[in-house]
Amino acid sequence: MCGIVGYIGTDKALPKVLSGLKFLEYRGYDSAGIAFVKNKSLNILKEVGRIENLDKKINAQEETYVSIGHTRWATHGKPNVINSHPHKNGKFTVVHNGIIENYVLIKEKLIKEGYSFLSETDTEVIPALLDYNYSISKDIMVSIRDTIKELEGSYALGIICDDDLKHIYAVRNGSPLIIARDEKGYFLSSDVPAILNFTNKYILLDESEIAKLSFDEYKIYDTNLDEIRKEEKIFDGTPDSAMKGNYEHYMLKEIHEEGKVFKDTLNYYVDNYKFKNTMPNFKKYNKIHIIGCGSAYYVGNIGKYLIEEYTNIPVLVEVASEYRYKKNFYDKDTLVIVISQSGETADSLAALRKAKEDKIDTLAIVNVVGSSISREADYTLYVKAGPEIAVATTKAFLAQTVLISLLAVKFSNNLNLLKEYDNLEKHICNLLNNNYEKYAEAIYKHEDTFFIGRLIDYALCLEGSLKLKETSYINSVAFQAGELKHGTISLIKDGTPVIGICTDENIINKTISNLKEVKARNAYVIFITNEDIDEDFYDLKLVLPKVHKLVMPILSIIPLQLIAYEVAKKRGCDIDKPQNLAKSVTVE
Ligand code: M6R
Repeated sequence: MCGIVGYIGTDKALPKVLSGLKFLEYRGYDSAGIAFVKNKSLNILKEVGRIENLDKKINAQEETYVSIGHTRWATHGKPNVINSHPHKNGKFTVVHNGIIENYVLIKEKLIKEGYSFLSETDTEVIPALLDYNYSISKDIMVSIRDTIKELEGSYALGIICDDDLKHIYAVRNGSPLIIARDEKGYFLSSDVPAILNFTNKYILLDESEIAKLSFDEYKIYDTNLDEIRKEEKIFDGTPDSAMKGNYEHYMLKEIHEEGKVFKDTLNYYVDNYKFKNTMPNFKKYNKIHIIGCGSAYYVGNIGKYLIEEYTNIPVLVEVASEYRYKKNFYDKDTLVIVISQSGETADSLAALRKAKEDKIDTLAIVNVVGSSISREADYTLYVKAGPEIAVATTKAFLAQTVLISLLAVKFSNNLNLLKEYDNLEKHICNLLNNNYEKYAEAIYKHEDTFFIGRLIDYALCLEGSLKLKETSYINSVAFQAGELKHGTISLIKDGTPVIGICTDENIINKTISNLKEVKARNAYVIFITNEDIDEDFYDLKLVLPKVHKLVMPILSIIPLQLIAYEVAKKRGCDIDKPQNLAKSVTVE
């Protein structure tokens, strides 16, 4: 998601704008740029990659008091310097967050009027259209009003005009924008946290309102260009609390975003029960290797079960740190899929490079746009999880599970399966609103727990167990239910929590037998199922909605994440930053 920051005032502008941009990093971006006024002219600097790259090019102590900055998350055109914002055309310079849906038509009209365009972006039509309308009205406010009448889509804009370098203009529709003030000047920003280092006084700009920021005041106008008064708000909290909203932890907030993440990921690849062209054609592959680390590897396990269930393609799943050093049996019909939330995990990147060196086609499933893995793979499919801040992954895991299940459908070529996603969002919301306190209560005082399941349920056990141990520091082991009796059952003591996941009706009775075995040894059994079974082999039951096997893991994971969260909370752990862990593991 793109981000905007602007400042005009009596303090130097660049430190403030750069500080704001750094706060917006959490939104994800692949390039950054800045425009500033110096010696009565406008300068633009842009760089691909991190804000630090831009920072190195800039003298932050530059004598400039008017500046707009931008982090770009590429939508129209590659992440490169030309496509980065700010965009200048004619007398207008613009930073934009959102998408202009009718940009092709506007571009055609403006080309006929003699305008030319440098970038592939939708955004560049905005300064050109402003310039065109300004050439008619000779009034900046009128040209902004006339321009937004023509724009379709969503936008938040920061605007500077060469004929008036003492003002910044701002307007929005669909995308958020706030105006703020401190003692020395005025800000515009995509969100509140970006300005909290300087001020907590802000107003929310409403749809189509136009803001005009000067050195000593700001004014807001409606679409008739009449000035309006808006109530200033005071944000009572820290940048961290602003980003967490009403949630106590990022982990909880991110779990609660899963309904949206599901919808966004599905809608990005599927429309009306058909795949969009955002999903490439993979017909030529008859062998698949899935590589990842930690949770991403467990998504790979889910993928293996689903792809093998619905196609005749054999799937090998490996942890990246093993795969990179072992002998791999692949050929030109093999597709190597690398799954990574961050797109920067060193072992996963090395495994990808190894496959590429061997001239094997690679596909990345990544959340962070512009990350190394996404750039180096032959194909990249993004999950639409949005920025994930808690170290333990939750919403990205769910999004990866959605995408790997869609890949199973794609490989199977059975589009009827796409109907199975129909009621999932409702089920996700219901699961998110359930109370998991009693399950956490049964677990949190123990130092050992076991998760058991078979086939795809075992893949969920692996992730449920990892979530519990990394957030609550309880030793937890996931086992294929049938394996328990071959040794590990000796660890079952009075009251040891054993969580059994049973959603596959073909083997549910087998796993129930294993749960009975541990119950007979006085384990505390938590039975998680989508079947209507009422017996006495469990202490607690958690009922999941019964949906098609293809989409079941998208639901099964939610209670496991929330139970881990509740347990960690009861144990007073540092939930968002567990000990010894990093969000992005860039070392071997
Ligand atoms: O960014 P990646 O998906 O490549 O990260 C892989 C693992 O490091 C990650 O899933 C890790 O296991 C997390 N701690 C899981 O919550």
